[in-house]
Amino acid sequence: MRVLVLGAGKMVDAILTGLRKTENLSEWMIYSPSGTSASRLAGKVGARAVTELTAVKNPDWVLVGCKPQQLRELRGTLGDGFGESLFVSILAALPEADQLRILGAKDLIRVMPNLPVQFNEGIVLLSSASSKGRLSSFQTLFSKLGQALVVEEAALDELTLLTGSGPAFFYEFAQTLGNSFSALAVEEREKLVRQVLKGSARSLAGKESLEEMIGAVTSKGGVTIAVLEHLRTQLPKLMGDGIEAGRERARELRALLRN
Ligand SMILES: NC(=O)c1ccc[n+]([C@@H]2O[C@H](COP(=O)([O-])OP(=O)(O)OC[C@H]3O[C@@H](n4cnc5c(N)ncnc54)[C@H](OP(=O)(O)O)[C@@H]3O)[C@@H](O)[C@H]2O)c1
Repeated sequence: MRVLVLGAGKMVDAILTGLRKTENLSEWMIYSPSGTSASRLAGKVGARAVTELTAVKNPDWVLVGCKPQQLRELRGTLGDGFGESLFVSILAALPEADQLRILGAKDLIRVMPNLPVQFNEGIVLLSSASSKGRLSSFQTLFSKLGQALVVEEAALDELTLLTGSGPAFFYEFAQTLGNSFSALAVEEREKLVRQVLKGSARSLAGKESLEEMIGAVTSKGGVTIAVLEHLRTQLPKLMGDGIEAGRERARELRALLRN
């Protein structure tokens, strides 16, 4: 498979690191404006770095891996040579129709991965109106990175804050938990909290619901439930407000990029 990869940042690195365990990436071509990230990543995953896009002819598809704010500049770099290509874009916030317009393309699949794809434990949401017929083959490809789910674009946009951003929320919560104590040095407490997070994640392999798992740690009148009862008076509102702040930023980004 000949794939042109545009961008070689954190998320593209995670995708290719996950995919290389089952896929041969020797015909994948990676481009980045600096050239250094593309060349580093190509070396890491057994792909090829390219410095001139004019040398790339008829790729099977094009993976768009830059930030939404960089898409117009990327279009300038691409020129008009890829209008017939299928674009597979990991950009958050920007609707398919806008991405098609900016890229001057006809076919585009949006995919929303998260960083655990590098360990093949990720979630990849997929949506497309322009290329519905090709969704299932990309669902098969991306299911090698964990779970891959085809959804409507509105769901992809809404759930980006759950699946794409989600890992950062768990890390932040773990960090805040560790910082709520004073015994040991900060670094030592971070080691403890990381192990708690890791051990807790292992429990998810079972069939118990989250509620049952909470129940297994707490007992009536005990100290854990005392903490939880306090958190429950504030956490749902705090989380809801935080998610709304994320939605608002997505709306701002969309408006900015449409102008
Ligand atoms: N990070 C996440 O957890 C996450 C989750 C879901 C979705 N995403 C999406 O993934 C995308 C990339 O995010 P990231 O965190 O990986 O960002 P990043 O680490 O900053 O990577 C951006 C990459 O885009 C490249 N780039 C910039 N301008 C370009 C252009 N004109 N043509 C081609 N490549 C260009 C950069 O090249 P240089 O290396 O040369 O600077 C860099 O390699 C974003 O659209 C984001 O919405 C990220």
